[in-house]
Amino acid sequence: MDFTFNEEQKMVIDGARRFAREKLAPFIAELDEKAEVNLKALKELGKLGYLGMTLPEDFDGSNAGAIAYAASMIEFSKVDAGTAVAVSVQNSLVNDAILTFGTEAQKKEFLPRLASGEWIGCFTLTEANSGSDPGSLRTSAIRDGEHFVLSGTKNFTTNGGIADMMIVFAQTCKEKGAKGISAFLVRTDVPGFKVGKHENKMGIRSSSTTEMVFENCRVPASALLGEENKGLKVALTTLDGGRIGIAAQAVGIAEGALDEAVRYAKERVQFGRPISELEGLQFMLADMATEVEIARTMLFRVAWMKESHSQKFTKEAAMIKLYASEMAHRVCHKALQVHGGYGFMKEYKIERLYRDQRITEIYEGTSEIQRCVIARSLLGE
Ligand code: CAA
Repeated sequence: MDFTFNEEQKMVIDGARRFAREKLAPFIAELDEKAEVNLKALKELGKLGYLGMTLPEDFDGSNAGAIAYAASMIEFSKVDAGTAVAVSVQNSLVNDAILTFGTEAQKKEFLPRLASGEWIGCFTLTEANSGSDPGSLRTSAIRDGEHFVLSGTKNFTTNGGIADMMIVFAQTCKEKGAKGISAFLVRTDVPGFKVGKHENKMGIRSSSTTEMVFENCRVPASALLGEENKGLKVALTTLDGGRIGIAAQAVGIAEGALDEAVRYAKERVQFGRPISELEGLQFMLADMATEVEIARTMLFRVAWMKESHSQKFTKEAAMIKLYASEMAHRVCHKALQVHGGYGFMKEYKIERLYRDQRITEIYEGTSEIQRCVIARSLLGE
C-alpha cells in the first residue's frame, strides 16, 4: 500500500495550489460579494489541463487521473469553492458522462473542446418538483421523425449561466416513468433554449446556478447520450463519480477552515496569552485535524477505486460524500467558534467557508440520499 503521490501527481497538485494562490485568492472576496463567476480563471484552467483531468490524450485530456483530480479539487476549494464546483461539474459530470456513454462522434465533437475550456458544460437534471427523486422529472423530449423536441424547465443547474453545452435529462416515454428518461447533448445556442433565473445563493457565490428553460427545442436524434430511455442510468452512474468531486470540495473547505482556525488561534491574545495555549481550544483543533485526515485518506482510496477501474464504487462514493460533507460542517462550525465574534464578520475568510460548506451536504445527493444508497448496498437491494 503506497500512500504517497507520484511525481506527476505532485506536479499537478502543486500547480493547482499555485493557481489557487495566484489566480483565485486575489478575487474571491469581491466575486463572492457580487455573486460573479471567475470565467477568466476557468478558461485558464482549461488551457492548463484542469478541465480534462480524467480524459485520455486522444481527446486532448491531460489524463492526470481521479486521484490528482481529487487532490486538485481540494486545493481549489480551500480558496474558492465556487470555481472548484465549476471544475468538478466539467470533469466529473460532463466529461465523464460523455466518455462513458458517448458515441465516437460525440466524443470527438465535445471532449477536446471541454478539455481545453473552449466550452464550459453543465449537467441539467434537477427540476422544481424533482430533486432527490430524479425519476419523477417532467421535462419532455417528444420524438418527431429524426428529431426530439424538448420542453420544460430545469433548475439549480451549476454552470447554467456560463455553459456552451449541456447534458439534459428529459422524459422520452411518459408511460414508462423513471424508465422513460433519456439524456441529450445540447448546445446552449439551440433555438428555443434560454437561461432562466440566476439564483442568489448563500454560498459558493462565485459559481453560476440557474434555471434552464426549453421551449420546443429541436435536437437531432444523434444528440441522444446513451440509449433512449436509459437516461436515469446515465445520470446515476455519472453521479457516483461526481460525488468524489464534491467530497474533495468538502475536504478542501474543511482544510481551509482548519488553516484559518490555527492561524487565528496563534494570533489572538486573551487572558494575557494566545488562545492557542488554552487546552479547550487545542482539543477543538486536534479533533478538527483528525477528522480532516480521516476524510482525506478515504477520499483518495475512493478516487483510487475510480482510477484503477478495479471495482464498482457506488457505495464508497456515497460514504465519502456523506462523511466529508458532514465533517466539513463540524470543522467549519468549530473554526468559526475559534474566531469568536470576528468569525461572524465578512472580513474573515471563515465566514465565507462556513457558508460555502453547507451546499456540500445537499447537491449531487443530500446526506439522506447518500445514506439510502449505502443502506441499499448493505442490504443487497
Ligand atoms: N450506477 C449505475 N446504475 C444505477 C445506479 C448507479 N449508482 N443507481 C441506480 N442505478 C440504476 C438502477 O439499476 C436502475 O436501473 P434499471 O432501470 O435498469 O433497473 C435505475 O438506475 C434506477 O435506479 P433506482 O430504481 O434505484 O432509482 P430510484 O429512483 O429508486 O433512486 C436514488 C435511487 C439513489 C434515490 C437516486 O435517485 C439518487 O441518487 N437521487 C439523488 C439525485 C441527485 O444526486 N441529484 C443531484 C442533482 S445533480 C447536481 O447536484 C449537480 C450540481 O449542480 C453540482
